[in-house]
Amino acid sequence: MTLLARFRAVRAATIALVAPLSPEDLMVQSCPEASPAKWHLAHTSWFFETFVLSEFLAGYKPFHPDFHWLFNSYYNSLGEMPEKKLRASFSRPPLDAILTYRTHIDAAIARLLETPPEYPANAEACRRIALGLEHEQQHQELIATDIKHALFTNPLHPAYRNPSAVPPSDSMAPPIDWIDFTPGLTEIGFAPNPDASDPTQTFCFDNETPRHTVYLAPFALATRPVTCAEYLAFMDDNGYARPELWLAEGWSTMRGEAWQAPLYWQRDPATHSGWRIYTLHGFEALDTLSETPVCHLSFFEADAYARWAARNTPGTRLPTEFEWEHAAIQSAALPATSNMLETANLHPTPATSRPGLQQIFGDVWEWTSSGYTGYPGYRPLPGALGEYNGKFMSSQVILRGGSCVTPATHIRATYRNFFPPGTRWQFSGLRLARDL
Ligand SMILES: [Fe+2]
Repeated sequence: MTLLARFRAVRAATIALVAPLSPEDLMVQSCPEASPAKWHLAHTSWFFETFVLSEFLAGYKPFHPDFHWLFNSYYNSLGEMPEKKLRASFSRPPLDAILTYRTHIDAAIARLLETPPEYPANAEACRRIALGLEHEQQHQELIATDIKHALFTNPLHPAYRNPSAVPPSDSMAPPIDWIDFTPGLTEIGFAPNPDASDPTQTFCFDNETPRHTVYLAPFALATRPVTCAEYLAFMDDNGYARPELWLAEGWSTMRGEAWQAPLYWQRDPATHSGWRIYTLHGFEALDTLSETPVCHLSFFEADAYARWAARNTPGTRLPTEFEWEHAAIQSAALPATSNMLETANLHPTPATSRPGLQQIFGDVWEWTSSGYTGYPGYRPLPGALGEYNGKFMSSQVILRGGSCVTPATHIRATYRNFFPPGTRWQFSGLRLARDL
């Protein structure tokens, strides 16, 4: 696929994602982590205007003189920007103007990539476009998770989309099994292919480099993530009331926020389990989701669950991000065959009984025990783009593998996602590891 074809496909996927939403839906910003979908539509276009068109398309005229600061997210070296919490007040510019902004950007990128051969788009412009597409895919996932929170906070709890591919309710996840790994010294990080010329095939974020050697002691990794039924057993065993299971910051956060269950779980006496769960298809009884991977957990809850699980299997814990990456590469799983955004399930589905590691990609992001830091020798991208990843390397924890709302072409085994440990609005769950 050419870069222009990929550009058009990714941009169209964003528009398809907001198609079920009303203009009013597009304005809601219901928690500090989230942004209105309308803002996502504008900001993803701003990225191409700022980092590609303004620098690389001769004679390019910005769409609007205020957009360069209005839709800047967090790039301080580009100047001041509105506070994030104000994004829901952007009733102006109107939605029509934002959609016209998108078509303006689309046409300009097409001009850049279609310029006659004597003025070919240069390699750096192509690299920036590839980065802009990965950026837009990140925002596609955010549109899904942000609108889930927005519609959940609406007293009517409307569905984003009625179910079209509901997982069968009688599908049982196989029992957790363990796969042993004895890596010793292993290579971690993205391995660039210097022979590949297509930037979409060679893309990685700067935080996946440099590739480097890590020593890993023998460990075992669970064949699938923890399910809702298993997590309910932790809750029923007073998991949220036992300080010995919690990190200090986790205990104080959990008590301060009055957490008693994952985000989106509500008590419902009308159900067998006593709980219902809000999904992008609306509320469903936990009874029908009990075999699906548990999601919308903070790192603290994932860690507490792992400590609880160690009561039966000593040495049970969260994996490090290096253990996860090593195992993922060994498992040879493919994102294209996983439950990701393109399946349109919009929710995790039960694991199958196939041999080997299941659900490595998709379904739920998996919290690891690793803090987010730069790899040895890490260098951020030059210029303002250096703010993309590097400046967040404090007080955040790594998650791996993508979720049911991550685009399949966006994830890989070396991909590092990161959030503060109290974050719950993403599709975040866990997979257990243990010492051997
Ligand atoms: Fe962004």
